[in-house]
Amino acid sequence: MGEIFYPKKELFPYAKFKSMGDYWELVERFKRDYEGTWEAFAREKIDWFQLFDYPLDKSNAPFYKWFVNGKLNVTYQCIDRHLKDKKNKVAILWEGDNGEKRAITYLELYREVSRFANMLKDLGVKKGDRVVIYMPMIPEAVFAMLAVARIGAVHSVVFGGFSAEALKDRILDAQAKIVITADGAYRKGRPYMLKPVVDEALKGVDIVEKVVVVERNGEDICWVKGRDISYNELISNYPDTSQPEVMDSEDPLFLLYTSGSTGKPKGVQHSQAGYILWAQLTMEWVFDIQPNDTFWCTADIGWITGHTYIVYGPLASGATTLMFEGVLTYPDPGRGWRMVEEYQVNQFYTAPTAIRLLHKLGPDEPDKYDLSSLRILGTVGEPIDPPAWKWYYQKVGRGRCSIVDTWWQTETGGHMISPLPAATPVKPGSATFPLPGIFAEIVNENGEKAPVGEKGLLVIKKPWPSMIRTIWGDPDRFIQSYFSRVKIDGKPVYFSGDGAIYDEDGYIWITGRVDDVINVSGHRLGTAEIEAVIKKHPAVAEVAVVGRPDEIKGESIFAYIVLKGEDTIGEEMELVQEINQIITKEIGAIAKVDNFAFVPGLPKTRSGKIMRRILRAIAKGEEIKQDTSTLENPQIVEAIIQIVQKGS
Ligand code: PRX
Repeated sequence: MGEIFYPKKELFPYAKFKSMGDYWELVERFKRDYEGTWEAFAREKIDWFQLFDYPLDKSNAPFYKWFVNGKLNVTYQCIDRHLKDKKNKVAILWEGDNGEKRAITYLELYREVSRFANMLKDLGVKKGDRVVIYMPMIPEAVFAMLAVARIGAVHSVVFGGFSAEALKDRILDAQAKIVITADGAYRKGRPYMLKPVVDEALKGVDIVEKVVVVERNGEDICWVKGRDISYNELISNYPDTSQPEVMDSEDPLFLLYTSGSTGKPKGVQHSQAGYILWAQLTMEWVFDIQPNDTFWCTADIGWITGHTYIVYGPLASGATTLMFEGVLTYPDPGRGWRMVEEYQVNQFYTAPTAIRLLHKLGPDEPDKYDLSSLRILGTVGEPIDPPAWKWYYQKVGRGRCSIVDTWWQTETGGHMISPLPAATPVKPGSATFPLPGIFAEIVNENGEKAPVGEKGLLVIKKPWPSMIRTIWGDPDRFIQSYFSRVKIDGKPVYFSGDGAIYDEDGYIWITGRVDDVINVSGHRLGTAEIEAVIKKHPAVAEVAVVGRPDEIKGESIFAYIVLKGEDTIGEEMELVQEINQIITKEIGAIAKVDNFAFVPGLPKTRSGKIMRRILRAIAKGEEIKQDTSTLENPQIVEAIIQIVQKGS
């Protein structure tokens, strides 16, 4: 299936995997000695304060423990240990939306993080406390994450696009003591505000003792006496040295909320040692990070990609990480390519949705820039369609760079399935093979390996160091979400929620979620979560939300709505606006519905279950192949089809 592209090996003289032979050798080593091989990597790569006793404790599966009794601090791994030989190397390069520039060396990073850590301690933050970070893309956001980790507290970064309600839910769920935010930031040449969202979120919340505010754009904000603290005014009072807290391998490092198929977003909990080990190893294996490289991941730090590949992975590797505020398409669609040229970026990592947008807005824009520093182009977040892949390969990579299509999730902490840039022959649209040490497999509902060409469920058969440890405060939901659907030899294995297919060469093709999760511009949104919010509108009786393929966003949100009474008929335009206002308020603009269909009823089974498969097919304009005669109300299907056809 598909065309094959081979790596230009001369670009990767120092690669860890120079051929598929190197890849298979390590895969085999893991097969022969799983725990011993992980142990060897953990010994080699982590600067331990105290070496672990043994690599893996399976006694309380699926609550696995890695590198048992090891002691470390991830900020020591990311900063202190580099002070010996890289103190004046740039750790973070930053460019603002307004063109402002900053370069922060490892020594400066050490000082900034130390001051911030000292400030947090002074504010009463202790080991294990949760700190919510609601920040724009400025270096202080990274200082904040590392300062929290340095003192042994647990950060929960909330994406700056989430609304006050969504922020409040996350603050309450994590029982956060401190919130770190900024007055605002800039986007597309205009200031926008964050602090008022925090003020709104904290109404009626009494657990948050202090709000630390970084003054980024200097707009007027309201200061709550006794609660709000100006970072800019106070930070210079704190000493610029600090000792990292001694952490156990398994102490929680951070929570990151993500959507599931049911209920509210869940706080995915990651650990210290396993997470940092894999963040660092994947930087070497997948991104071939070399001492003089400048690495650019365009994600927001509010998502796992930003955590692992803007902050922890690059810094643990002692690399220079480029971070930017704003968007790739402002002031013009060449901004990203100009930045690649200006900062001589070696690895560029972005999402298919961004690639499609850049392609659409400036198909020849890359030609205007010198992109010869690039070796690797990465993609993540959703399947990449071959046309977008080819444009990326030809126009941006000039047919020489390797493309790494990395499949992974908030829960996996780092890459799971990906090409190796100097070794793997790639097929556009396939994430290729599992990384060594990752026992990913496509199986059927009975846990048997799926035959070639048949869609199955993507599982990971063995635990791995950077895996999710639990869902914060809800261990039952952790088991239910990931370790209940698929069993192999009677034992539950990690189920990703994704479907996938093997081709005849064993390549893995991810087909997308098989649960009720929609992927909009690479962001996960649960249909249940959106439906619960839409139901808050007084005119709505019933609602079902599904994903519909979208040229740029991958998927867009399609809502079927049954209204309560006749009196709202004819007022649909107003309702559309009102419903989207509620969504923006309760979740954030990313969850806005793109298509509405006001329908007389929803297709249901006799037991009352909504048949989403039918609704998905209608939204896509597909023929209904399913037998509808078993439905409680088969005639509704034709009525819905007509309404949708009329509307589009
Ligand atoms: O459906 C898969 C899709 O994104 C989901 C994970 O979303 P999230 O936890 O928000 O993390 C995104 C960034 C790691 C997966 O379940 N996904 C991620 N990468 C790919 C992908 N689908 C296809 N190909 C990928 N490379």
